[in-house]
Amino acid sequence: MLILFPKTLLLAGCLIGLFYHFSDLSLGGKRADLEKPNFIVILADDVGWGDLGANWAKTKDTPNLDKMAEEGMRFVDFHSAASTCSPSRASLLTGRLGLRNGVTHNFAVTSVGGLPLNETTLAEVLKDAGYLTAVIGKWHLGHNGPYHPNFRGFDYYFGIPYSHDMGCTDTPGYDLPPCPPCPCSQRDCYTGVALPLFENTVIVQQHVNLTSLAAQYAEKATQFIQRASESGRPFFLYLALAHMHVPLVMAQPPTNLSGHGAYSASLREMDALVGRIKDKVDSTVKENTFFWFTGDNGPWSQKCELAGSVGPFTGAWQQQRGGGSAKQTTWEGGHRVPTLAYWAGRIPANETSSALLSTVDVFPTLVSLANVRVPPNRRFDGLDVSETLFHPNSGAAGRIGEIKAVRLDHYKAFYTTGGAKACDGSTGPEEHHPAPLLFNLARDVQEQVPLASQAAEYQAVLPEITRALSAVLQDIATDNVSTADYSHDPTAIPCCNPQHVVCRCQPCRPALEECSREADRTGSW
Ligand SMILES: *[C@@H]1O[C@H](CO)[C@@H](O)[C@H](O)[C@H]1NC(C)=O
Ligand SMILES: *[C@@H]1O[C@H](CO)[C@@H](O)[C@H](O)[C@H]1NC(C)=O
Ligand SMILES: *[C@@H]1O[C@H](CO)[C@@H](O)[C@H](O)[C@H]1NC(C)=O
Ligand SMILES: *[C@@H]1O[C@H](CO)[C@@H](O)[C@H](O)[C@H]1NC(C)=O
Ligand SMILES: *[C@@H]1O[C@H](CO)[C@@H](O)[C@H](O)[C@H]1NC(C)=O
Repeated sequence: MLILFPKTLLLAGCLIGLFYHFSDLSLGGKRADLEKPNFIVILADDVGWGDLGANWAKTKDTPNLDKMAEEGMRFVDFHSAASTCSPSRASLLTGRLGLRNGVTHNFAVTSVGGLPLNETTLAEVLKDAGYLTAVIGKWHLGHNGPYHPNFRGFDYYFGIPYSHDMGCTDTPGYDLPPCPPCPCSQRDCYTGVALPLFENTVIVQQHVNLTSLAAQYAEKATQFIQRASESGRPFFLYLALAHMHVPLVMAQPPTNLSGHGAYSASLREMDALVGRIKDKVDSTVKENTFFWFTGDNGPWSQKCELAGSVGPFTGAWQQQRGGGSAKQTTWEGGHRVPTLAYWAGRIPANETSSALLSTVDVFPTLVSLANVRVPPNRRFDGLDVSETLFHPNSGAAGRIGEIKAVRLDHYKAFYTTGGAKACDGSTGPEEHHPAPLLFNLARDVQEQVPLASQAAEYQAVLPEITRALSAVLQDIATDNVSTADYSHDPTAIPCCNPQHVVCRCQPCRPALEECSREADRTGSW
C-alpha cells in the first residue's frame, strides 16, 4: 500500500492522528468498509473570502457556516486551484493542475468535450473502494455523451450541467447580462433561463425553476445521505452549489433589491442550505463524516453589488491600474476562498488554521482517509509538503492555464499581472514582469506595494521561488498530461427536444419517457 502524507493531514497537525488511524490497519474487506469515513464536499460558486461571517465581521449572512466554523476548523489561507470554474472543479476532482489534466478554461453550452476521459476522478477512485457517490449541483466538466457525471464515477447526479446564467432568458430577474434575451416571443415561452435540470441522464425540467433549486438540492442531498447511511456503505457527496455565481431567483426574494440586498438574501439562502445538510449529517452519520466547505474561485466583480466580498484581499496594486482582485485573476481575491472542515469528535472545534493549502490537496487527503491508492501513471499536485502554491492564469491576463504566480510561504511572486473586469467596466492591462513582482503577504494582504527588486528580502527569496517554479514545470513536462477537447457543436447542447434549439417553447414529455428507460438501466443512484 502506497502510504501518502497529504499536505492537509500534515499541516493541519490535528488531523495526523486520524491519518494513522486509517493507514496502519490491515483490515479485511468488511471491517475496512466500516472504518471508511463518509465525505461531503460542498463547493460554492464565486463565493468571496469575505462572504463568510467567521472570516469577515462585516458579513452577517452566514449563521450556519459560522456555527460550523465554531464546531470545526477554519482555514484562512486556503486557495482554489484556479480562478475560474471548470479548471477549479477539474483540479478538485483529479488532484492535478490544469496543465496536467487539460482543463485550463471553461466549457461552454456547445462544448463537445469535457474533463479528459483518461483523467481519473475522485469519485471513480472512491466508487472502486466501495463508496456510494453522488454529485448534486453544477457540473461544468462537460455534459455531452461520456463526459456526463454518471459516466465519471458518480452513481447519482441531480443538477445543472453548467452555470445557471448560461442560456437565454426572457426575464433577467436578478441576473445581469451576459444572459442574452431569448429569440422567441411566443406566449408560452420560457420566463427563466433556458437551462436543463438533470436527474442522472434524464432532463427532468427545462427550463429549470431557479426559485425552487436550493430546496430541491437540499432535498436530494438529504435523501442521498439518508439512503447511503441505511445502505451501510460509505459515501461521497459532492455538492456543487449554484450559489453565489450571481443571485438566483430566490424562494424568498428580498424586499429591498437595491444595494447588497439581493446578494445578501442569496447568501442567506446558501447558508441555510448548508445548514440543512449539516443538520442531516448530525442526526445520521455525525461521527463518521468528514465535511468540507470551500469555494471554486473568488467573486465576480463585474456584477457590482451582485458580487461577493474579497474581504481585505483587494489587490491594491492592480486596482490602481484598473480592474481588480476577483475571479479570473491570480490576485488573492481571485483564489483565496472561505474554507471549513468539520468532523465531530475528530477535528478539533473552533480552531483556525493558517496552513497554506489548496483544492488540489483535497484529492490525496480523501483518498488517504479512505485507505486507497491514488491512480497510477500520473503525478499529483497535493503530495508535496513544501509551502508552495502555483496559480494558473485564469482569463484576466497571460496565456490561459500557465502558471504565472507563485506562492512560497508568505511571499507571492507575479510574472504576469492583469485585472478582472471591475464594476466600472475597467480591466487592468496585461503586464509581464521578467523580474517578478514580489509581495510579502504577512504585512501586505492587499498586495499593494511590491518589494524593491534590489532589497535584501527580494534577493533572498527570489532564487527559491525560481527554483520551485522550474521544478514544478519540469515535473509537469515529464508527467502524463491530458488534453481537453474544447471544440463546439450546437448538437452538444443538452436539450429535452432535439428538434428545437435549446428546446424552446416545447413540452419535455417524449424525451423524458425515453430517458427514464435509460435511467432504469443506470440505476436510481
Ligand atoms: C417554481 O418553484 C416555486 C417554489 O417551489 C413554485 O412556487 C412555482 O410555482 C414554480 N414555478 C413553476 C413555473 O413551476
Ligand atoms: C434599500 O437599500 C439601499 C442600499 O442599501 C438603501 O439606501 C435604501 O434606504 C433601502 N431602502 C429601503 C426601503 O429600505
Ligand atoms: C471560539 O473561539 C473564539 C475566539 O477564540 C471565542 O471568542 C468563542 O467564544 C469560541 N466559541 C466557542 C463556541 O467556544
Ligand atoms: C506515464 O504512463 C506510462 C504508461 O502509460 C507509465 O509507464 C509512466 O510511468 C507514466 N509516467 C508517469 C510520470 O507516471
Ligand atoms: C491521456 O491520453 C493522452 C493521449 O493518449 C496521453 O498523452 C496522456 O498521457 C493520457 N493522460 C494520462 C493521465 O494518462
